[in-house]
Amino acid sequence: MSQNPTNPTRRGFLAGAAMAGGAAVAGRVHAQAAPDPAITELQPWNQYLGPGVDAAPYGMPSPHEAHVIRRNVPWLTADSVSSVNFTPLHELEGIITPNGLAFERHHAGVADIDPAEYRLMINGMVDTPLVFTLADLARFPRENRTYFLECAANGGMEWRGAQLNGCQFTHGMIHNVVYTGVPLRLLLEEAGVQPGALWVLPEGADASAMTRSVPLEKALDDCLVATHMNGERLRPEQGYPVRLVVPGWEGNMWVKWLRRIEVGDQPWQHREETSKYTDLLESGDARRFTWVMDAKSVITNPSPQAPITHGPGPTVITGVAWSGRGTIPRVDVSLDGGMNWHTARMSGPSLDKSMHRFYYEFDWDGAPLLLQSRAMDSTGYVQPTKEQLRHFRGENSIYHNNGIQTWAIDSDGRAENVEVG
Ligand code: MTE
Ligand code: CO
Repeated sequence: MSQNPTNPTRRGFLAGAAMAGGAAVAGRVHAQAAPDPAITELQPWNQYLGPGVDAAPYGMPSPHEAHVIRRNVPWLTADSVSSVNFTPLHELEGIITPNGLAFERHHAGVADIDPAEYRLMINGMVDTPLVFTLADLARFPRENRTYFLECAANGGMEWRGAQLNGCQFTHGMIHNVVYTGVPLRLLLEEAGVQPGALWVLPEGADASAMTRSVPLEKALDDCLVATHMNGERLRPEQGYPVRLVVPGWEGNMWVKWLRRIEVGDQPWQHREETSKYTDLLESGDARRFTWVMDAKSVITNPSPQAPITHGPGPTVITGVAWSGRGTIPRVDVSLDGGMNWHTARMSGPSLDKSMHRFYYEFDWDGAPLLLQSRAMDSTGYVQPTKEQLRHFRGENSIYHNNGIQTWAIDSDGRAENVEVG
């Protein structure tokens, strides 16, 4: 920041921010005192014409942002076909994940579907089995809704202790996107669901033929058959040309490259809901059909990939929070490993089953910190500590780790993934 530090308007702004955030911001951000060539000298971009409008028919980010990319964890996935990469949460602001940065998880690589040959079949317990083309789908009323998609395995590597150094890796199996799609209810009504039907089975057209049993009640409630993300056609890796949107529920159920929806009267007990996507408890029993993603949050800045690079003084903490059960009216931030909590400032749209953005501005004295965030959702549910989670769920789980994350910040501003006990 380079505004005049004596500007009373700016002081007023900081005081206002302090009140809103509940934080005491006593210090000020100082502008450069000595002459700065970056302002006193003409720069190349001031002197020469830039490229014209034809240079990039499909625009790309600035080359200076080349580090803002999806990344994988090499030891986690041996090959890139049955694989996962992670959203760079520490590089993003607001609540929308740009299409090129939305994490990918596929069990058999990315299917390449010719839209002219695309078909969606509805069969099983329906009056009239139907097959839709993309053009058919475009003739149904469509809706625009913003939802997070979180893989049930997000944070799965952290169950037994702190392991991965970066929120991209600990929390990056999530994206938040504006979907355009046809309510699944309308397609099911067109086919005519028969009495006694209770479940649907969406199936993918990729080589994994992903299937999950979804209760009919959910299918008729808020599921979308989506064709667009953030205003443009779905990206191939997100299921082009059609994916199922299952708001608030684990990512595995959001079948990509959707080719068929079967209607039935009982769950199909397929691989992804028996062997996988179940939670083995200490007792030896496994929790099954754990669909909803509970409230969760993470501080994205600072974090191991995004240390504090300035010294003591005004410091902005930010992060994201979400819940599969509603909105996030409140996030608290702790600077001391959960002993004291401060209410963060929410900024941006507060939408059902969507990501929320929070900020906490404070005056850092340069002492080490133990940063935590704790989300509360609109049902009153409070995000648990990792200890509380392990108490109920043991340590065998992979999925549904929504425990509170801790970053240890040292006096140089470096951040590390730790646990406090
Ligand atoms: N659908 C199909 N057809 N094939 C898949 O491999 N992966 C699932 C789900 N839908 C998958 C799929 C899993 S485990 C997750 S977490 C989400 O898609 C990931 O969606 P994304 O790639 O858009 O992030
Ligand atoms: Co997944």
